[in-house]
Amino acid sequence: MKKSNAAATAEMCFGELKIENHRLKIGGCDAAELAKKYGTPLYVFDVNYAVKTAAAYVDVLKREYPDSTVCYASKAFCCTAIYNLLAPLGLGADVVSGGELYTALKGGMDPQKIYFHGNNKSEAEVEYAVKSGVGYFVVDSLYELELIEKHAKKKQNVLFRVNPGVEAHTHRFIQTTTPDSKFGFSIADGTAENVILSALKYKNINFVGIACHIGSQIFEPQSFEIAIDKMTDFIVRLNSLGVTVEQLDLGGGFGVHYIDEDKPLTSEQYMANSARYLAAAVQSRGIKKPHLIFEPGRSIVGEAGITLYTVGAIKTIKDLKTYAAVDGGMFENPRVSLYDARYTAVVATKADAERDTLYSIAGKCCESGDILIDGIMLPKLTGGDILATFTTGAYHYSMASNYNRNFVPPVIAVKDGKSAYMVKPQTYEDLVRNDAILEFSEDGK
Ligand code: LLP
Repeated sequence: MKKSNAAATAEMCFGELKIENHRLKIGGCDAAELAKKYGTPLYVFDVNYAVKTAAAYVDVLKREYPDSTVCYASKAFCCTAIYNLLAPLGLGADVVSGGELYTALKGGMDPQKIYFHGNNKSEAEVEYAVKSGVGYFVVDSLYELELIEKHAKKKQNVLFRVNPGVEAHTHRFIQTTTPDSKFGFSIADGTAENVILSALKYKNINFVGIACHIGSQIFEPQSFEIAIDKMTDFIVRLNSLGVTVEQLDLGGGFGVHYIDEDKPLTSEQYMANSARYLAAAVQSRGIKKPHLIFEPGRSIVGEAGITLYTVGAIKTIKDLKTYAAVDGGMFENPRVSLYDARYTAVVATKADAERDTLYSIAGKCCESGDILIDGIMLPKLTGGDILATFTTGAYHYSMASNYNRNFVPPVIAVKDGKSAYMVKPQTYEDLVRNDAILEFSEDGK
């Protein structure tokens, strides 16, 4: 395996990480000192990076396509503090569950700027969202439409999730518009137009537009352009049926950098390119310019985050490999087992040291598959070293679990050399808080 210069990797490609005196710095804080202060495993989140990226999105759209909203895709990283940071910048939010909705509202998000997505919202969630005054439902089934009709007290704005049939180049589990996708109504087979026409008859439904999301971690701008062509063609079709489309939601999906092979455009380039392409597509088709919604998640928070681990057991299997086990694993980063996701790492106190030893970084879960990095050149490790992995701000904390009754790690915000909890640590007592003593009631007779 080729040796690579860790310093260059960390400094040039991930968020705004720096290396000073061989030590990894994030948000002006020393990573190893953070590990000492807060313990490991630890998620660290660079507030300035996320705020800067989100603000740039808002600015780009204001310039390229003024009638627009940037909605933060909550699923990437959901906790109240993230909305405290993003709502004042003018962002709305995409939520997909009662829990995300609750958190967004707690974090100060304006309900009118919330788009409630999800392919199977429960009746309780629909009722809660209506009561909360959520701005928009993104309807994904006729079952959901009936639930909204039942619970809405006045006309509820809805968009329909449609499937434009774009096969974006990304892992098949994060592609969302293959023909057999569980999401959306197919444009190609006529289902989408039929359900939209049928929705016009509902008393409490106000159809405002259409939504798609072609997948996540996408690098090619062409994938978004194909989606825009298909969505604007569909608007032409709906117009010909007498249906006005006021809003067009193009979802998220802009790719970020995890490993050297990833070569994303800047997030602003993706956004500007798509917005310009849409403006031209609308003009050439002679249709009314819809209000545009983008829902970036990963590209706002992904590179803002790193994870810190303490190296523990180091075990060499003769002639095969050397494992360095860390105190994290699939409970705090399930992406490796789910999507074969790949990461790079540095030792926080010798971030630019020569990498001369090959390791497999193992997690601590009782699963042979719990490997975080299967083969990485690092300086020689010893127990107690602090290892940092990059681009862990999106889909890490939000996908973490208590598997093996490990703690979901806390999240520390860093900014201008200061640190603070964004999400506090769990305790053993938290782990048993909802455990019940068995006491059967008689109602099953
Ligand atoms: N809008 C909708 C309707 C979505 O379904 C998603 C992501 C987004 C926006 C945000 O996409 P982003 O900008 O973050 O790519 N857990 C997977 C990613 C699943 C994404 C699901 N939908 C991962 O860890 O890679």
